[in-house]
Amino acid sequence: MGGFAFIIILFGNLLLLLLKPCSTLPLCTDSTFPVKANTTLTFCSSYNGTASCCDSAEDLNLQTQFQSMNISNPGCAAIVKSILCAKCDPFSAELFTVKSTARTVPVLCNSTVSANSTQTNQASDNFCAKVWNQCSNVSIMNSPFATGQPSTSKSTELTNFWQSQSGFCNTFGGASLDDSVCYDGAQVTLNNTGTNLSFPSGMCLEQISNGSYMNMVPHPDGSSRAFFANPQGQIWLANIPEQGSGGTIQLESSVPFLDLSNYVYYDTELGLTGIAPHPNFLQNGRFFAAFNCDKASWPGCVGRCSCNSAINCDPSNLPALSGGQPCQYQSVIAEYSANGTTSNISSATSANPTEVRRIFTMGLPFTNHHAGQILFGPADGYLYFMMGDGGGTGDPYNFAQNKKTLLGKIMRFDVDTIPSAAEINQLGLWGNYSIPSDNPYYEDSSLLPEIWALGFRNPWRCSFDSLKPSYFMCGDVGQEVYEEVDLITRGGNYGWRVYEGPYLYTPPTSPGGNTSANSIRGIFPVMGYNHSSVNKQENAASVTGGYFYRSTTDPCMYGSYVYADLYGAAFWAGIENPEDSGIFNQSLMQFTCAADSPIKCTFVNGSSYPTLGYVLSLAEDNNKDIYLITSSGVYRIVAPSRCSYTCSKETVTPSSPSPTSTPSSRTSRLSLRENAILLCASLVLILLGFF
Ligand SMILES: *[C@@H]1O[C@H](CO)[C@@H](O)[C@H](O)[C@H]1NC(C)=O
Ligand SMILES: *[C@@H]1O[C@H](CO)[C@@H](O)[C@H](O)[C@H]1NC(C)=O
Ligand SMILES: *[C@@H]1O[C@H](CO)[C@@H](O)[C@H](O)[C@H]1NC(C)=O
Ligand SMILES: *[C@@H]1O[C@H](CO)[C@@H](O)[C@H](O)[C@H]1NC(C)=O
Ligand SMILES: *[C@@H]1O[C@H](CO)[C@@H](O)[C@H](O)[C@H]1NC(C)=O
Ligand SMILES: *[C@@H]1O[C@H](CO)[C@@H](O)[C@H](O)[C@H]1NC(C)=O
Ligand SMILES: *[C@@H]1O[C@H](CO)[C@@H](O)[C@H](O)[C@H]1NC(C)=O
Ligand SMILES: *[C@@H]1O[C@H](CO)[C@@H](O)[C@H](O)[C@H]1NC(C)=O
Ligand SMILES: *[C@@H]1O[C@H](CO)[C@@H](O)[C@H](O)[C@H]1NC(C)=O
Ligand SMILES: *[C@@H]1O[C@H](CO)[C@@H](O)[C@H](O)[C@H]1NC(C)=O
Ligand SMILES: *[C@@H]1O[C@H](CO)[C@@H](O)[C@H](O)[C@H]1NC(C)=O
Ligand SMILES: *[C@@H]1O[C@H](CO)[C@@H](O)[C@H](O)[C@H]1NC(C)=O
Repeated sequence: MGGFAFIIILFGNLLLLLLKPCSTLPLCTDSTFPVKANTTLTFCSSYNGTASCCDSAEDLNLQTQFQSMNISNPGCAAIVKSILCAKCDPFSAELFTVKSTARTVPVLCNSTVSANSTQTNQASDNFCAKVWNQCSNVSIMNSPFATGQPSTSKSTELTNFWQSQSGFCNTFGGASLDDSVCYDGAQVTLNNTGTNLSFPSGMCLEQISNGSYMNMVPHPDGSSRAFFANPQGQIWLANIPEQGSGGTIQLESSVPFLDLSNYVYYDTELGLTGIAPHPNFLQNGRFFAAFNCDKASWPGCVGRCSCNSAINCDPSNLPALSGGQPCQYQSVIAEYSANGTTSNISSATSANPTEVRRIFTMGLPFTNHHAGQILFGPADGYLYFMMGDGGGTGDPYNFAQNKKTLLGKIMRFDVDTIPSAAEINQLGLWGNYSIPSDNPYYEDSSLLPEIWALGFRNPWRCSFDSLKPSYFMCGDVGQEVYEEVDLITRGGNYGWRVYEGPYLYTPPTSPGGNTSANSIRGIFPVMGYNHSSVNKQENAASVTGGYFYRSTTDPCMYGSYVYADLYGAAFWAGIENPEDSGIFNQSLMQFTCAADSPIKCTFVNGSSYPTLGYVLSLAEDNNKDIYLITSSGVYRIVAPSRCSYTCSKETVTPSSPSPTSTPSSRTSRLSLRENAILLCASLVLILLGFF
């Protein structure tokens, strides 16, 4: 597959070949996201007033470069200008960098293949041929096409170097690749929805379970069922009742789908952190779980320590853990199977708790910051694994920036190609997986091969946009000041602990040394918030990354990236504007609970919003509806009219439950103190370690 989706459509006599790059992302060549220029670009004026990678200084540079070419032919001048100005395109990093190598001109599309899925394979769309036809016999000084050729300052024609169009296009032509797009003469666009997005007036919730889970993952069969996992190590399969049915999630707590609680070590920030059925689960029954274990209490809990001689880290120098030793606790991904329990895997209600295969094991230096979510990429089928910096205030050993450790990284594994034990040993892998051939290591061998992106503190909850799978979003928990949401790109460095969010960061101690700001190209968050903006008490904030809302249930929320603060008192909607720019505007959302919620929500006296507990995760079901998975239960985002929120795009049918009195007028039967007890009793997890 190589990250491409091939769709061949026979349309009359016309063969249309649609090619779509899957991980295309807006990003500038300096690893920053585009900005909405506040000045007009006088030269590259087609990028005027829109998101762009150029400011007026860069615009002037391009103009100077263009003038130095002294191109007399107007047709050629126009096409060369458009190529130079592609530097201003919001996708300029992908246009001007191919496999980590910078280019003077982008790959010129020689066939269909732009990121525009509607483009077709017709001769007239061969942009590379157009360039040749317009410019081959035209004199160009300081020609950008002459790189690698004997003389560059002299006036040259393309025909000085290439005999023919095919020769020229062998050098400059090509198609979009997984991490790069070719230039076709127009701005790069992705799957545009064409809808005008605006902020929802509020988030309406219903509570459908009071169970305390950390993960919810829909069943791959497309049904209304989902897996629910608690941090203690139990995983259930349950049906999610239809909206408006009044039903709640009924699961038989004594009959889990899979019970790993004998292996899982559960404590503050330690437990079962991720579950993922294989994309072909219906055929192969493969089911994966990520959790922490204690090597003192389970012989299966044995792996190399992440603090080791390869990174000049001596475990005995790490501060002793209370009641343990460095790397006593391990981070594990293990594979289980639902095959064999029934002839039809879709109807399997349990998996065999005997581990089929160990995918990954790594000893942890401290007890906190090891994220632990697992996700299969919808476009590439590879397994992504989120790992925090390993803990300690300010990442004292600078693990997140160290390319030779997996701490503070997002990893990417191929679990469909399992090497032999000898190969695993020879390659120094941490388990039974192989390395996808397009992991960034293949261009930057200083990275461990498992690494997809680096510079994270504690990437807490990531998701792929179900409409644009190239948008891979993660919340990354901050230290003292800033909680961030990142748009993850291949090989990207998200800055910690050179930066905390957009701010430079200085750790209180740094026995592991420092990385200088000018030695990295840190990618800044696309969204986030200062701690002070959600709670006056310093440090009382921790981001929980969410989802792009793609359900039709709340049409006013459609297209927003919805994310949360752990404390359940602040939720944001982020809207990318302009589309495909990587520029997000965000807004805090009001939220409340529908009066006809199947389980009545808890309101503290006088509060306009319900007490939700800790928002540990958000989740998306097979209908694209979004859920809050909190320490007090499972909440679904429902139609805004059920909470009397205005949404002009919503069609309120007579059968819909009628809007009710405003929630703030409802009083709670629980006192503030009782609520606090409910909250604290439900889950101690995450507290302390998250900060
Ligand atoms: C335009 O943006 C730059 C920074 O990007 C800022 O320094 C400048 O003040 C802004 N100008 C106006 C008119 O807003
Ligand atoms: C860019 O801005 C300038 C100055 O406002 C204007 O004259 C020009 O028409 C704009 N170009 C485009 C393509 O919008
Ligand atoms: C630019 O090209 C024109 C002819 O098109 C020529 O007269 C002029 O000398 C050239 N300028 C330079 C700096 O070479
Ligand atoms: C370029 O010039 C050569 C010779 O003058 C001619 O044969 C050829 O057709 C020209 N190519 C184009 C693309 O105009
Ligand atoms: C496009 O260019 C690439 C790279 O030179 C080449 O492999 C491919 O065959 C070309 N495709 C077409 C349709 O010309
Ligand atoms: C991309 O597709 C849109 C329609 O979805 C079309 O309007 C636009 O012209 C296309 N862009 C290019 C460069 O073909
Ligand atoms: C989007 O909104 C703008 C201004 O509000 C309007 O001009 C435009 O027609 C709208 N586009 C669509 C597709 O609704
Ligand atoms: C949880 O909800 C169920 C109904 O789904 C109810 O029977 C049970 O009492 C509730 N438990 C608590 C602690 O509220
Ligand atoms: C499922 O189990 C059956 C019987 O144990 C075995 O023959 C088959 O190969 C298994 N299928 C997969 C995909 O593992
Ligand atoms: C397999 O099980 C699912 C869920 O129970 C059911 O919907 C489906 O019809 C079954 N398929 C076959 C071939 O029995
Ligand atoms: C690979 O999986 C097998 C079976 O679970 C296990 O015995 C072995 O230790 C694993 N290898 C590694 C390097 O984890
Ligand atoms: C566009 O959407 C389709 C289906 O919704 C998806 O398969 C494809 O990967 C998307 N393309 C991009 C570039 O995100």
